[in-house]
Amino acid sequence: MTPGHDTARPLLSVEGLTIDLPGVQPGLVEDVTFQVREGHCTALIGESGCGKTLTSMSILGLLPASVRVSAGSVWFDGVDLLTRTPRQLRRVRGGPVGMIFQEPMSSLNPTMTVGDQIAEARRLHLGERRKTALARARELLERVGIPNAARRIGAYPHEMSGGMQQRVMIAAAIACEPRLIIADEPTTALDVTIQAEILALLRDLQRDLDLAVLLVTHDLGVVADFCDDVVVMYAGHIAERTTVDGLFYDPAHPYSSALLAAVPQVGQARSRLTVIPGRVPSAGGLPAGCRFEPRCAHAQSPCGERQPDVSLGDGRRTRCGRVASGELTLQGALRG
Ligand SMILES: Nc1ncnc2c1ncn2[C@@H]1O[C@H](COP(=O)(O)OP(=O)(O)OP(=O)(O)O)[C@@H](O)[C@H]1O
Ligand SMILES: [Mg+2]
Repeated sequence: MTPGHDTARPLLSVEGLTIDLPGVQPGLVEDVTFQVREGHCTALIGESGCGKTLTSMSILGLLPASVRVSAGSVWFDGVDLLTRTPRQLRRVRGGPVGMIFQEPMSSLNPTMTVGDQIAEARRLHLGERRKTALARARELLERVGIPNAARRIGAYPHEMSGGMQQRVMIAAAIACEPRLIIADEPTTALDVTIQAEILALLRDLQRDLDLAVLLVTHDLGVVADFCDDVVVMYAGHIAERTTVDGLFYDPAHPYSSALLAAVPQVGQARSRLTVIPGRVPSAGGLPAGCRFEPRCAHAQSPCGERQPDVSLGDGRRTRCGRVASGELTLQGALRG
């Protein structure tokens, strides 16, 4: 599916987002622009430290106090969330935009029963009475696959397994009929079989409720299964913006193809996985030109001087000057 062939309008539009650590130049996140379309899933991928969490946290004003947004806008449903007051943002969080984090225990309130936590969201955002809200909380727990929901509604988070806690977190995120879910590595803290169950649940909910999803993940299998559009971040920049098919069949940045090459392929005899040499540079130690150049297998002069951001049509963009000029074609994980 390509944006050119699908007319779903953007529900979330992040434009030129720049996040600074005061005193450090350039920013931790710089000039990040992407969309999440109504009812579609955009994946945000890239190695550790590329700026995925900062980008997703900034959307709802949840950045740590030590960093700040210095430029850009975040349009949700026609409103720039970056201009909203903390009080106004609290009405968006847990209401039209739900959030799911990596560690459910860091977001669930340990002193409240899971039923009360979900019910409270409905009371706050939708003005429901406690009894009605609790009845709905029970339905939501059933919907996310919690057995004995009528009994578990009175349980505290610490009485549940990690997988069950994450289901509660998802129930809380969808409690007030959101249109967008932001999920930052929602399964990383869980073991592999539970990860698959939670992802299957998220995918069902996305389809049934027609949700737009921004999914931060390290897992390209999840991207292939779940997502429509892909944003590849590298060292605070977007290296490539593409579709799922574009990423796997026709990557437009050497960093994307290096990420694909680092994934084990079932059925392929390979003695070793390809690794990307070196590591993501930290802010303050960034190259002046292409940020990936020191690690790039395809770098040639003048890669060290340029930082292009070129449209490839159909909503796709690349920061690789060699791909943009047509002199470099990359190998995807799949060939069409
Ligand atoms: N509060 C902070 N103060 C200073 N630097 C920070 C802060 N939070 C994040 N950073 C830096 O910003 C960069 C991006 O961090 P971020 O957490 O967004 O990465 P990420 O892509 O989510 O990584 P991961 O995959 O490990 O979760 C990193 O270099 C990180 O060290
Ligand atoms: Mg992160």
